[in-house]
Amino acid sequence: MSTTTLVNTSSPVQTDFLPLQGTDYVEFYVGNAKQAAHFYKTAFGFQSLAYAGPETGMKDKVSYVIRQNKLTFVLTTPLRINNPIADHIYKHGDGVKVLALKVDDARSAFEETTKRGGEAYLEPIVLSDDNGEVVLSGIHTYGDTVHVFVERKNYNGVFMPGFREWKSNYNPTETGLLYVDHCVGNVGWNQMNPRVKFYEEVMGFRNILSFDDKDISTEYSALMSKVMSNGNGYVKFPINEPAEGKKKSQVEEYLDFYNGEGCQHVAIATNDIVATVSELQKRGVEFLSIPPSYYETVLDRVGKIDEDLAPLQQLGVLIDRDDQGYLLQIFSKPLEDRPTLFFEIIQRKGAQSFGKGNFKALFEALEREQDARGNL
Ligand code: FE2
Repeated sequence: MSTTTLVNTSSPVQTDFLPLQGTDYVEFYVGNAKQAAHFYKTAFGFQSLAYAGPETGMKDKVSYVIRQNKLTFVLTTPLRINNPIADHIYKHGDGVKVLALKVDDARSAFEETTKRGGEAYLEPIVLSDDNGEVVLSGIHTYGDTVHVFVERKNYNGVFMPGFREWKSNYNPTETGLLYVDHCVGNVGWNQMNPRVKFYEEVMGFRNILSFDDKDISTEYSALMSKVMSNGNGYVKFPINEPAEGKKKSQVEEYLDFYNGEGCQHVAIATNDIVATVSELQKRGVEFLSIPPSYYETVLDRVGKIDEDLAPLQQLGVLIDRDDQGYLLQIFSKPLEDRPTLFFEIIQRKGAQSFGKGNFKALFEALEREQDARGNL
């Protein structure tokens, strides 16, 4: 019997004390930002946007900002040892440090969340240059990951003060990536519910979907997940926790190699998953492979879809349906050598859920990779 619960999202919401306009940027701490920027431009079609480093007055680190439509990544590397960025990379490898959220008022965002128990990461700070000002503040979430609130309504510059425009003569074409659909966090044993409570109480989010270990299990391993959403639904953070199984779950493998809790995957929206994923594969992005048997029965489960099945099968795109429509999704292999962060590419055709019908096929694919690494 299915134990998934869908919470009624049409119930009246109290005044949102933390109104969010969406994801502002995702910042990665990486060992070599110059090479990472080249990889994300080449493989994913990001465009050069901005740069900060010693030449712009930033003495101890370098950041490259790259963008594709509404998707902005900041790739940051330290120039020396013995600082929080270097320590983060030593402990976690390359990974997501900041899930930055766009707000109208960063001071209020800080005040409202910290007074509800949020742990301060960045007291409100005003950065200004000739193009105006940006106000930033931030709080901690799972592991060493943080949320930075970005208020940029009085700023007209390319990214934010401290950065200059990055003009490059190497500009690979875009691949149709649009914006962050959701970002998933992996947390430790018994830590999902405390983190859910944090998003509810400190940030005013609601738990819109829950999956227990019966929903998300294979012969060998299991996990539990709860999806947290802000009031307007622009920001969604599913939280995963490992569950007992015969063997080690993918969440445990992540926690081992990341040395703690962190961002497991960033899901990126596209309007044409076949075109986007064909291009990404051409450029060398590797995805989990799905057995042909999946495609023999998938249409019996999801019904009629607009797309031809053959290209979806060829690419390894998964299909699922809920009562609002269907979705197409695919998962990359890890983006670094550690089996930690990966991307999901998702095209929603009405569906607002997360592909529950694909969990089994997906996790079996993940386990084949995990087994090949000797970590199952
Ligand atoms: Fe996802």
